[in-house]
Formats: sequence, C-alpha cells, structure tokens
Amino acid sequence: MNASSIYQIQSANWRDLFALSTLEKVCFDQDAWPLMELMGVLSFPGVVRLKAVAANEMVGFIAGDPRRSEKTGWILTLGVLPDWRRKGIGYDLLRTCEEQMGLDIVKLTVRRGNLAALQLYEKMGYHQLDIWSRYYRNGEDGLVLEKHL
Ligand SMILES: CC(C)(COP(=O)(O)OP(=O)(O)OC[C@H]1O[C@@H](n2cnc3c(N)ncnc32)[C@H](O)[C@@H]1OP(=O)(O)O)[C@@H](O)C(=O)NCCC(=O)NCCS
Repeated sequence: MNASSIYQIQSANWRDLFALSTLEKVCFDQDAWPLMELMGVLSFPGVVRLKAVAANEMVGFIAGDPRRSEKTGWILTLGVLPDWRRKGIGYDLLRTCEEQMGLDIVKLTVRRGNLAALQLYEKMGYHQLDIWSRYYRNGEDGLVLEKHL
C-alpha cells in the first residue's frame, strides 16, 4: 500500500478545533497557538485550511491566507504528527494549499534551526527572502521564504 492511499487531504472546519489543538501542541510545543487563534484559522473567510486524515484522525494540518491585494499567499501553519512524518503528507498539504490559494507568490516563516521544515521547503522550491531577527519567543531568528509558482 503506498502512503497516499492511507491518508486523505480534506477541507477542515471549526469541528476540527480540538483535534487541531492537540496536533499543534504536539508539533509546536512552546509555539502552539492558543484556542482562539486556532478557531480564527478554522473560521475566517478566505483562509485555506486543509487536514490530512488517516483512520478518521487528523494527522496533519495546514492553513494558508491568500492576501489577494498583495498577490501573495502566506502559509500560517503546517504540522504533521510525528508517527506520520516522512510519508509525503507535509508535501501534499503544502502543494494542495498552494494550489487552492491560487496566487503566484507564496511566503512563510520558519525557525532558522528547523532543518526538517527547511528541507521540505527547499525541495518544494522555496528560497530565502529575508531574516526576521529574534522573531520567535525564545529569541530564535525567523527565516522568510518565498516561492514563485
Ligand atoms: C516539517 C514537517 C511538516 C514535514 O512533514 P512531513 O510530512 O514529514 O514531510 P514529507 O514527508 O512530505 O517530506 C517531504 C520532504 O521534505 C524533506 N524532509 C521532511 N522531513 C525531513 C527531515 N526530518 N529531515 C530531512 N528532510 C526532511 C525531505 O526532502 C522529504 O522528502 P523524502 O522523505 O522523500 O526525503 C513535519 O516535520 C512537522 O510537522 N514538523 C513539526 C512542525 C513544523 O516544524 N512545521 C513547520 C513550521 S514552519
């Protein structure tokens, strides 16, 4: 069985709040968003929100904000549960989110030390655009990456 047959990419909505909160804590620890922000991501008009589902459980999530006035889509969050990593889920979520935002430029921020995410983004054609010094709570720099589709 190949990996894509054991999970599906689906639209997410407010009913996914508690599963998303659990996933965020596991994936982001100190950077996990509070419930109110997650509720916003699951309900604000226009936001692209997608979940990867396996055995009826959310195992991955992505949200993207298509800012049409800037002609740029911003990836807001992307996470895959540890047991489900390296199966192509992060790649599929990002590719589908890029498509659904439908804009020529996509940007995101990532911790300078997040090598797994940096490898994924490099593989998908992102390049470094800027450095936001001490952007994260513990003082780590944020790298701003960009992709032209
Ligand atoms: C980053 C993350 C989303 C990747 O999800 P994933 O489903 O494991 O990614 P994929 O399986 O689609 O990986 C695609 C490619 O990315 C690269 N990659 C992903 N994880 C990697 C790792 N740990 N080490 C090296 N390369 C990695 C590889 O090139 C991989 O292709 P390959 O498996 O054929 O070698 C996941 O590790 C995660 O949730 N991390 C915690 C949250 C996080 O850091 N999110 C990003 C915030 S900016």
